[in-house]
Amino acid sequence: MTATRNRESILVISGLHKRYNEGKSNEVHALRGVDLIVKRGDMMAIMGPSGCGKTTLLNMIGHLDRRSEGKIVIDNIDTATLSDGKMTAFRRDKIGFIFQLFNLFPFLSAVENVETPLLLKGMKAGVAREQAKMLLRELGMGDRLYHLPSELSGGQQQRVAIARALITEPAIILGDEPTGDLHSATSAEIMKLFRRINRINQQTLVLVTHSRWIAEHCDYIVHMSDGKISRLEQGPFKAEEEN
Ligand SMILES: Nc1ncnc2c1ncn2[C@@H]1O[C@H](COP(=O)(O)OP(=O)(O)OP(=O)(O)O)[C@@H](O)[C@H]1O
Ligand SMILES: [Mg+2]
Repeated sequence: MTATRNRESILVISGLHKRYNEGKSNEVHALRGVDLIVKRGDMMAIMGPSGCGKTTLLNMIGHLDRRSEGKIVIDNIDTATLSDGKMTAFRRDKIGFIFQLFNLFPFLSAVENVETPLLLKGMKAGVAREQAKMLLRELGMGDRLYHLPSELSGGQQQRVAIARALITEPAIILGDEPTGDLHSATSAEIMKLFRRINRINQQTLVLVTHSRWIAEHCDYIVHMSDGKISRLEQGPFKAEEEN
C-alpha cells in the first residue's frame, strides 16, 4: 500500500442502517450503523459469516435497494440528494456490478453483452462494438467474441460479465462472490485480472467473498459481524506476491 492517505475518497458511508420489513413483526435489522471509507484505487474485500449483512451493504452501495438511515457519498455526491431519475443515470455511470450468477443476456453474443451498456448510454453502434471487442481481447476473449454465454465456460462467462461491468469505466465495481462457483485456477486468473484492472486504471473494487485466499488479493479486508464492521485489516497480504 502506498500513499493511501493522499488519494481522494471515492466512497464514504456513515451511520448506515438497513431494516427489512421496517415496522413489521418480521423486521430484520440487517445493517446496524456501518461507517466505511474507500479511496480511489482501493481494492477491498468484505468478509463475514452468512447473514451478517455483506450483500445488503453491497446493495446499499449500488443503490439497488433503499437504506433506512445514514449517508452514502460516491465520487463526492451525496446520493440522498439525487432524484429517482438522476439516480438511475448515476448508478449506470458510476457503478459496475458483477454478480455470482453472471446475469448475461443469454441470446446475445459475448461482444453484444459487453457493448449493451455503451449503447444504453447513447454511444454509436460502431464505436461501441469496437470498444467492446478491444476490452474482450484484453481479457483474453478475442477468439470468443461471437459465442453465446451457453457456449462459454464458467470462467469465460465471468470474463464477459467483468468486461460488461468495466466497459463504462465506473467509479466503483461491486462484486458479490465474483469468483463464486469457479474452480480455484479460474478464480486465481480472475483475481489477477481484477488486480491488473485495479492497477492500470486506478479502478476501485469492493468484493464480497467467503474465501480468505481471495480476500488476500485485496488491499484491505473488512470484517463484518451482525450488521456492523467489526475489524479492518490492511494488506499487503501474502498473496500479493503472486499478483
Ligand atoms: N429482502 C429481505 N427481506 C428480509 N430480510 C432480508 C432480506 N435480504 C436479507 N435479509 C436478511 O438480512 C440479513 C443480512 O442478509 P445478507 O443477505 O446481507 O447477508 P450476507 O452477509 O450477504 O450472507 P451470505 O454470506 O449468506 O450471502 C439476514 O438476516 C437476512 O436474512
Ligand atoms: Mg450474500
